[in-house]
Amino acid sequence: MKFPVKHVVACALLAFGAAAASAQTIIKFSHVVAQDTPKGKAAEFFAKKAAELTKGKVKVEVYANSALYKDKEEMEALQMGSVQMLAPSLAKFGPLGVKEFELFDMPFIFDDREDLHKVTQGPVGARLMAKLEPKGITGLAFWDNGFKSFSANKPLKTVADYKGQKFRIQSSKVLEEEIRSLGGIPQVIAFGETYQALQTGVVDGTENPISNFYTQKMHEVQKHLSLTNHGYLGYAVIVNKKFWDGLPADQRDQLTQAMKLATAYANQIAQEENDLALDGVKKSGKTTVYTPTKEERLALKKALAPVHEKMGDRVGKETLKEVYQATGFDPAHL
Ligand code: LMR
Repeated sequence: MKFPVKHVVACALLAFGAAAASAQTIIKFSHVVAQDTPKGKAAEFFAKKAAELTKGKVKVEVYANSALYKDKEEMEALQMGSVQMLAPSLAKFGPLGVKEFELFDMPFIFDDREDLHKVTQGPVGARLMAKLEPKGITGLAFWDNGFKSFSANKPLKTVADYKGQKFRIQSSKVLEEEIRSLGGIPQVIAFGETYQALQTGVVDGTENPISNFYTQKMHEVQKHLSLTNHGYLGYAVIVNKKFWDGLPADQRDQLTQAMKLATAYANQIAQEENDLALDGVKKSGKTTVYTPTKEERLALKKALAPVHEKMGDRVGKETLKEVYQATGFDPAHL
């Protein structure tokens, strides 16, 4: 029996349409920290909400702990479309050429999360995200982690204690200047290699929000942790722009909604996760936790104030001014 060609074509088109409709969109979401951190938990939360809101049409696969890519490689992978979503720390955008992001690395620039949110949720945050578009990246949200503290194998009380110590940092010119201002030696090392670098003595110390310090087990290889809270570490959740723009509009809307919920969740748990991690460090008995006195912290703040002047041009003096106005921070008058 012969079928008219137009019937055969119509059937083929129907079959193709049905297959396309049932095809699932996969989002690979890669990150470098442990699952049990603010970012790790928020990524899982987003995956769950994305599945619920898209009724299973989108599956978010989360790869934690640098399982797919290390720091620098993950940004390249996103641009090439090998992964669709990341949440790199804000420091990771400087090497991408968007140096203004390094404003978040400026020492003591935010007193607390309220100050930080004035920037991430205000016009500066929106402008920074827009700068990613020409790089083929769309910024979806800022996620909190927390304030960083210094650790080493010797007590870090006075500024003189930092002298000559090698500190692992993220790849950021501002962070390099921060360590130099304390008389230390900065060493850029991938996050996933930091534990080993501390263990083998490649570096003496590092700086981290406590949730990262604890979940990477750095307390096993650092004798002293000084609660300096001298700088901030948080994230921008980003997607490959071409992928994002190519999604069906309804899926993009549902994912945007899932991201809103995940952002609220991330920002709600960030402090608590860091508090729990600090308890964990203390209970381990392996690292001595020190809280600097008011005077010691002020001395650190003063020693780090010149970083703002030296790195102002790199970050953008006008943007910095805008941030100071929003937060009330003034490095010239401490
Ligand atoms: C780091 O390299 O220290 C951070 O970027 C890790 C993180 O929280 O993503």
